[in-house]
Amino acid sequence: MNRLLAEQVFKPGAFPEYTYVSRKSTDLGIDYELRLRQALKVSGYLTSIIGPSKMGKTVLCEKVIALENLIEMSGVDFKDSEDFWNIIGVKVGLSVSGEFGEVNLKGNMESKKEINKSEKFVLNKDRVIEYFKDNGLVLVLDDFHYASEDVQIHIAQQLKDAIRKEFKAIVISLPHRADDAIRKNADLTGRINSINIEPWKESELEQIAIKGFRELGINIKNDISKKISIESLTSPQLMQYICLSICTLIDSDTGNIKEVPEDVLEIAYKFTTINLNYNDVVKILKEGPNPRGNKRKLYKTNIDKELDIYGLIVESIRKNPPLVGLTLDELKRRIDDLIICDIKKPDKKTIRESLNKIQNIITEKDGIYKVLEWKDNVVHILDPLFLFYLRWGTY
Ligand SMILES: Nc1ncnc2c1ncn2[C@@H]1O[C@H](COP(=O)(O)OP(=O)(O)O)[C@@H](O)[C@H]1O
Ligand SMILES: [Mg+2]
Repeated sequence: MNRLLAEQVFKPGAFPEYTYVSRKSTDLGIDYELRLRQALKVSGYLTSIIGPSKMGKTVLCEKVIALENLIEMSGVDFKDSEDFWNIIGVKVGLSVSGEFGEVNLKGNMESKKEINKSEKFVLNKDRVIEYFKDNGLVLVLDDFHYASEDVQIHIAQQLKDAIRKEFKAIVISLPHRADDAIRKNADLTGRINSINIEPWKESELEQIAIKGFRELGINIKNDISKKISIESLTSPQLMQYICLSICTLIDSDTGNIKEVPEDVLEIAYKFTTINLNYNDVVKILKEGPNPRGNKRKLYKTNIDKELDIYGLIVESIRKNPPLVGLTLDELKRRIDDLIICDIKKPDKKTIRESLNKIQNIITEKDGIYKVLEWKDNVVHILDPLFLFYLRWGTY
């Protein structure tokens, strides 16, 4: 008998064939798959998928579009905007230079002269569009936010023309960043199918564990799958990862285990942080801005440590229950709970000013440090993996 291995069932980094969960968008209550399928049927329209990192954007496309029709490219593939159609042509196996030879031969002697760059571009464009149509291909332009602003604008322009010719394309990007070149592009108004992927609800995350352990023939109690879903912090990737860690820890592939034991959870969470590397990020947040020789006030806390205001903020984000959005009031409450001595606790103004400084530090740093955002009196956790690491990692 072919029993499935845990690694075939729980796939934190790839398409989850056995644990795929179908979700409904909250705005319309319609399955995301259905929306995407419908979007692809509307000719002359561009599909724009926006959603936070690791929420299932790529997996959704892979679910809806047959592998042989799916042409996946990334924003990083396009450095020089001039080459957009060339690069896609090469990707689908159209031999660009070879074809030019052919074109030359068909013409008379005079037309054998060099074809200039823009002529080449147009030629490639038409051929690529034709080729996509003939073969029912869909271009999925993933991580569009990785392309430079100039390139994004150029690509938007190119896609605008192409979709009129029934070229099918999906552009995927993160919220609030690269959506401008597409969604706010005046030329594309009324020609965009927008799909917004939302963070996962706990009940949806639970389905991953329920499906997966069922596939493996292992029972999982409701309250255990619920606990894991809370700890997964809206991230299906984390859910998959924690379940896989549990399987490794209980040696599920032996087939001897019949139920997920409760006491494995904490170890599984810690185990899952091993490959996460947010050490520097935590350090920078805890240190706060350079104190320039001034000593910061230290507070005695109930976690056996003396912490300054930055340490308190980080510690309060870590606390139970894990939240991906923390208001200033909630932070103040958590900080008050942490401090055990009688001295005056930091007031909201101090907390707010410290968070402003943290935000300034983050703004100046690159990608990996952008784990949270302090805006409108709320700390928004942008990267669930970071909060998970903060809760369970060793640093
Ligand atoms: N519909 C889904 N059902 C189950 N797991 C999913 C689903 N969507 C995503 N995942 C899990 O999350 C991981 C990240 O998804 P991915 O599509 O790569 O995110 P994004 O493209 O939004 O960054 C996947 O590898 C998979 O483990
Ligand atoms: Mg992706």
